[in-house]
Amino acid sequence: MQIFNQHIKESIMITQLSDIKLIDLPKIADPRGNLSFIEEDKHIPFKIQRTYWIYDVPGGEIRGGHAFKKQHEIIIALSGSLDVVVDNGLTRKIFSLNRSYYGLYIPCGIWRQMENFSTNSLALVLSSTTYLEDDYIRDYNQFKNYTYNE
Ligand code: TYD
Repeated sequence: MQIFNQHIKESIMITQLSDIKLIDLPKIADPRGNLSFIEEDKHIPFKIQRTYWIYDVPGGEIRGGHAFKKQHEIIIALSGSLDVVVDNGLTRKIFSLNRSYYGLYIPCGIWRQMENFSTNSLALVLSSTTYLEDDYIRDYNQFKNYTYNE
C-alpha cells in the first residue's frame, strides 16, 4: 500500500493529445494593420502568471525538450513560423504555427519541443505559473516513467 501511494504521488496520468487545442484568437482586420488580443478569462483556460518569448533562434536549433508537471502554456508564433512537437508518452503530433492569431494550448504532462524556426521568428509563451525549475521533467525516459495510464 505504501509503495502504491508513492507511485501515485510521483506520477501523473497520461494527458490526451486531444486536450491540446489550437485556440482561434480574435482578429480585428483593419486596412491600417491587424490587431489581435487575449483576455485571460475569455480566451484561455488559465490565469497568466508569466509570459516569455523566444527569438533570435539560429537555423536548425531546437528549444524546449521537456514536460511540465503542473504548468499549462499557450504558444503563439507572433512573427514567422515554428513547429511544436507534442508527445504524451504514447503518441507524437506536430503543430505548425505561422499565424499570430492562433494560440497553441498545451496542458501539463506533455513533452514538447519547438523546432524549425523561420528566420526572425518570435514565439510568445503564456504560462500558468511563475518559473519553477522543480516543475520541469527534462529527461524523456523519466517523463515516460512519470506518466501512467489510469
Ligand atoms: P528553458 O525553459 O529550459 O528553455 P528551453 O527548454 O527552451 O531550453 O529555459 C532556459 C533557461 O532560461 C533556464 O536556465 C531557465 C531560464 N528561464 C528563466 O529564468 N525564466 C523563465 O521564465 C524561463 C522560461 C526560463
